[in-house]
Amino acid sequence: MSITDLTVEEIDELMAVAEDIIANPVKYQDSCRHKLLATLFFEPSTRTRLSFETAINRLGGRIIGFTDASSSSVTKGETLKDTIIMVSNDTAQVVGSYVDIIAMRHPKEGAPVVAARRAGVPIINAGDGSHNHPTQTLTDLLTIKRTKNRFDNLTIGLCGDLKFGRTVHSLVEAMARYTGVQFVFISPDELKFPRYIIEDELDSRGIPYKEVSTLEEVMPELDVLYMTRIQRERFDDPFVYERLKDSYILDTQKMKAAKETMRVLHPLPRVNEISVKVDDDPRACYFFQALCGKHIRMALILKLLGIKKEA
Ligand code: NCD
Repeated sequence: MSITDLTVEEIDELMAVAEDIIANPVKYQDSCRHKLLATLFFEPSTRTRLSFETAINRLGGRIIGFTDASSSSVTKGETLKDTIIMVSNDTAQVVGSYVDIIAMRHPKEGAPVVAARRAGVPIINAGDGSHNHPTQTLTDLLTIKRTKNRFDNLTIGLCGDLKFGRTVHSLVEAMARYTGVQFVFISPDELKFPRYIIEDELDSRGIPYKEVSTLEEVMPELDVLYMTRIQRERFDDPFVYERLKDSYILDTQKMKAAKETMRVLHPLPRVNEISVKVDDDPRACYFFQALCGKHIRMALILKLLGIKKEA
């Protein structure tokens, strides 16, 4: 449900399995034979859904699901609870379930938690409203591990829509557990990082952070720059979105001020916030990051299904 459901040791284990999958893909190709994953996506997705689907296929399993709630019985008024009971039922009345594991995305914060209470199989939160996106964070962690080779002693800049962007909420919760990490929040005033996460995760542990409004003033100090899209679908007032949508555009000029070793991450989709010219910069890691999403989701599915392979 949340990245903090995993201990730091469990995260290390997942990273190790993902790296073993990268090194020895053949070893894992039948690990999920006869296992079925459901992707229940009540909100749009490209990478998250495709990476879950690729992950289960690469493990030798199969998928069912919907990609658009408007094509499911939700339009007839079916509740989330009923959909989940039906897909994951393993109650006494019905022996066996449709599937072995569910990945679910929903526009309502907390919906996967509600679903998990009813489900007879593991549920993975693939994004709930503007709240959390733990599997994106696992993806981000694997990307940081593979490009920076550490989680400790990093200055991490998070830029864009820090209020509605669920990926940055989960990422800060994860990175706050490592030593020597500092955060730089770069956002317009209206889209600042939520106070409650700052208080719970940073203030309470004395973790340093600062809040600024321009990229230029902090570029040289960053080890990781995590860019995000302004989340149009979460704005009540479209005029506010229009005013804020181009608040930050990372271009080759701004990249000149960054360290040679800095890495640029973005969960994607990108709108305007990174110029396509930056794609050719060796420090741009966002497409590599999308690939890491497949490997870490393979590792997560194995863990949740209790399937172990010798290292
Ligand atoms: C993100 C999401 O859905 O929160 N995308 C993703 O899962 N890769 C980021 C976004 O939509 O901006």
